Amino acid sequence: FTVDMDPSAADKGAYPFYMLKEVDEQPAVMRKLVQKYFKDDQPQLDEKLLQDMADADHIYIVGAGTSYHAGLIGARMFERLTKTPTTVHISSEFAYEQPLLSNKPFFIFLSQSGETADSREVLVHVNEHHWPSLTITNVDKSTLSREATYTLLLYAGPEIAVASTKAYTAQIAVEAILAKALGEFKQIPEAQDFALKQQLGIVANGMQAITDSKDKIESLAAHYLSKPRNAFYIGRGIDWSVSLEAALKLKEISYVQAEGFASGELKHGTIALIEKNTPVIGIVTQDRTAGLTRSNLEETEARGANTLTIAARHLAKEDDTIVIPDVDPLLTPLLSVLPAQLLAYYTSLGKGLDVDKPRNLAKSVTVQ
Ligand code: AGP
Repeated sequence: FTVDMDPSAADKGAYPFYMLKEVDEQPAVMRKLVQKYFKDDQPQLDEKLLQDMADADHIYIVGAGTSYHAGLIGARMFERLTKTPTTVHISSEFAYEQPLLSNKPFFIFLSQSGETADSREVLVHVNEHHWPSLTITNVDKSTLSREATYTLLLYAGPEIAVASTKAYTAQIAVEAILAKALGEFKQIPEAQDFALKQQLGIVANGMQAITDSKDKIESLAAHYLSKPRNAFYIGRGIDWSVSLEAALKLKEISYVQAEGFASGELKHGTIALIEKNTPVIGIVTQDRTAGLTRSNLEETEARGANTLTIAARHLAKEDDTIVIPDVDPLLTPLLSVLPAQLLAYYTSLGKGLDVDKPRNLAKSVTVQ
């Protein structure tokens, strides 16, 4: 297959690695998505797509790796803003253990490359049943894009580093745009009240502020993550979903065995793994769960963990490690993931690893 790309857009320029360039591009991607998808303050999407989605009784989101993690965030948005039950599935599981489906399913495929074989396997099956589908991808005319009923593009520019960064945040932003448009179409008050365009502007500025604090994140990575073999990200709700992506970044490029956990689950087993100096990073962005996640962090600290926090400004305490700007509670992943991407980057860099091409991994997995 061929990929249309502007070679200058894929130039590393002064950056030592593509990953860092791609992390830095995220504010511009947010602005581009606003420009591409909004007219005045409203998202403009194909009416037929919105009608097919409004007719569905259940949305199934399918993806692998980082794309699956972006789906976990999207599902919360679709349920909140469109009142459509939504579940998220790992494509390699769905292809062989298909859950009992609803009567009128609608499928969303998330794939940066649009070529992931596991996801395609599901789409082939979806097409055999003539179910409507949408691919959200960075690559126009990719296989998943050609084979789905509809396509929405990520407009993130080429993503070269194996570790996906700007595609994850672009996927979340496009899911938010789609959820807002569908919710408006269905006249759901939560969608009508959601000032998404304005919020994406706040997100872009917030991302810029975080990428401007690289020196601090680099020294945190050196201090907390350069030696340990294990690390944990914890959070509740949407923060838990981000913790899975944060842990994947650390695993794939810095070879730290990292896990993302629902912080309330720690006491049901995982806390046995905490030893002296185990890094535990808590993501704290939601009013309802901030206090609970903080007490879970304290429980790990009492067992010797080195704890760090990524906290939203309005919930921040004096000794929080990283404070991120405030944004709508549904959009916090767009900011909370950036420090995690940078922590993984600097841990990998500090170990002298090939950040862009980690061992055993390919950018696009075209085998099942
Ligand atoms: C993420 O950093 C990965 N390298 C990987 O998990 C990736 O997201 C996955 O293979 C899915 O790829 P896709 O989005 O191109 O389908």
